[in-house]
Amino acid sequence: MDSTGGQKKWPKDWGEFIRGLFQDAEPYLSVRGDVLHAKISHGYALALMREEGGDPRIIEPAVILHDVGWSCLTPDAIKGAYGVKAGGHESHTLNRIHEAAGERIAREILKGYSYDSDLISIIASIIRTHDSGKQVRSMEEAIVKDADKLWRFSETGFSTEFKRQEITALDLYRHLESHVREWFFTNTALRIAEEELGKRREEFLRES
Ligand SMILES: [Fe+2]
Ligand SMILES: [Fe+2]
Repeated sequence: MDSTGGQKKWPKDWGEFIRGLFQDAEPYLSVRGDVLHAKISHGYALALMREEGGDPRIIEPAVILHDVGWSCLTPDAIKGAYGVKAGGHESHTLNRIHEAAGERIAREILKGYSYDSDLISIIASIIRTHDSGKQVRSMEEAIVKDADKLWRFSETGFSTEFKRQEITALDLYRHLESHVREWFFTNTALRIAEEELGKRREEFLRES
């Protein structure tokens, strides 16, 4: 799968570039059903940047493209590679494959725009460890990782994740509640996650 198709004309403005990136990423993201994940995480990244700063030339492409690498795994492999039930050596290896493949595909897509090569290197290095990296090297990396994780706290992300991970909503809620204080690098992301968790709790109480 190669959506780059050679060099592209630089879009007329940043908004057009971002829309173009979403279009380029879509065939890859669709393999795991991640188009909404990328859109919602991108929205969170914009909110985090407003409070925390960071360079949008790095953050926005990195968030939009971070999960394109799932397209290189089979549906069965994807299931075993992430989520509440994932664990062990094999899932670790598969998860690293989605990071490495994502880096390669993101480089190809951005090179198609003749994007700045230094920025491509930074974006690629963020994608390479977006799941596995325990530390962050910059505010840009912190925001990409936080925006990725905030997805699972959102209304859409929460319902998508418990269904595709084949667990109950309560299992996912407990998982998020037990990890919320250890996952985030920025105070703004932690605040948003706790607010969203409160909303998910209210939805629970209403439905039970
Ligand atoms: Fe990922
Ligand atoms: Fe992700």
